Order: sequence, then C-alpha cells, then structure tokens
Amino acid sequence: MPSAENLRSAIRDVADFPKPGIVFKDITPILANGPLFQDSISLLCDTAGGTKIDKVVGIDARGFIFAAAVADRLGAGFVPVRKKGKLPWNTRGLSYTLEYGENVVEIHEDAVKPGEKVLLVDDLLATGGTAAASLQLLGDLEADIVAVSFLIELGFLKGREKLGSHRIESLIHYA
Ligand code: PRP
Ligand code: ADE
Repeated sequence: MPSAENLRSAIRDVADFPKPGIVFKDITPILANGPLFQDSISLLCDTAGGTKIDKVVGIDARGFIFAAAVADRLGAGFVPVRKKGKLPWNTRGLSYTLEYGENVVEIHEDAVKPGEKVLLVDDLLATGGTAAASLQLLGDLEADIVAVSFLIELGFLKGREKLGSHRIESLIHYA
C-alpha cells in the first residue's frame, strides 16, 4: 500500500541551497528507490479522483519527472511548461517569482485545447509563484483544471493562497 509517510522519510533536507536561508527539499532519494518512486506516482495518480484526464501538465524540470510518469499511468498526454527559450513552437509566457529567484515559464499555444481536462503536476509548492503562473497560462488556453498536485507542500509559505479556487492536492505537508 503506497504511503506518503514512507515518501516523507526519504526526503533529504539540504541547508542553504541554492541560497543562504533556504532549506532545500531533495527528492532524489525517492527517485533513486524503485518502489518509492512507484508509490509517489500511484499517489499522484489518485489525486485525479477517477476523472479521465486528457493532459498531464508538468513544470520544468523536476515536475517533468513526476508528470510524465503520471501521464503514462493514466493514459493521458504529457505537456511541458518550460523555462524561457526552450520550446520551439509558438508560445505563451509569463514571468513569476519563486522562493529563491525569478524566471519566465512558457507553454506551446496549441498544447492544450479549450475544455480539455488537465492535471497540473509539480514536485513542490513553495510560494506558489511557479504554479500560479502555470495556471494562468493554462487558463488562457481555456483548460479545464481537474486538480493541481504536488509531491510536497511547504505550507508555511502559503503558496496555495495564490492558486485560486482550484483543488490543490499535496502528498506531503510541512506546516
Ligand atoms: C522549484 C520546484 C517548483 C518551484 C516551487 O523549481 O520544482 O517548480 O521551485 O517554488 P514556488 O512555489 O516558490 O514558485 P525550480 O524553479 O527550482 O526548478 P527545477 O525544477 O528546475 O529545479
Ligand atoms: N522550490 C522552491 N523552494 C524549494 C525548496 N525549499 N526545496 C526544493 N525545491 C524548492
């Protein structure tokens, strides 16, 4: 039976990375452990709540790892939200701030059709800047957001307050 507590036990805290004062949640021990990685994907798939998903959207770069595996498991398409300048076709983009910097995310303008059912997946919700920008891009494409799903939520940064009325699901909370 997949257990979020087993996943939590595997996460490694790295102090002062990438900047002084940040406690970085390192998920690579989960990725390196076959059964734990499988459990993380099973639990993320459950957040779809049985709704048939057309597209799983993953956020560059750690989000890709989880979102692509979830898409495969659900029989859905995979769509990347990428950092600026990486997507070759026509894009929509938005700048945002995150816990330790700022950036621009982009999506192909034809990546999601109006009304398609989308599960947005990322590894971690911190200040919510990255996910909020991704949601705005998906809103502009008229996606139907089924849920926004994270492996980890840093609750003390109150990121979910930036994500509007969408259903937000996190497997592991740090209060
Ligand atoms: C990390 C993480 C989330 C984002 C969360 O991505 O994977 O996407 O930060 O922070 P926020 O809620 O404050 O916006 P990062 O930009 O470090 O990219 P990476 O996945 O390439 O490491
Ligand atoms: N992304 C934003 N904040 C983070 C943190 N503290 N650990 C890992 N990824 C992050």
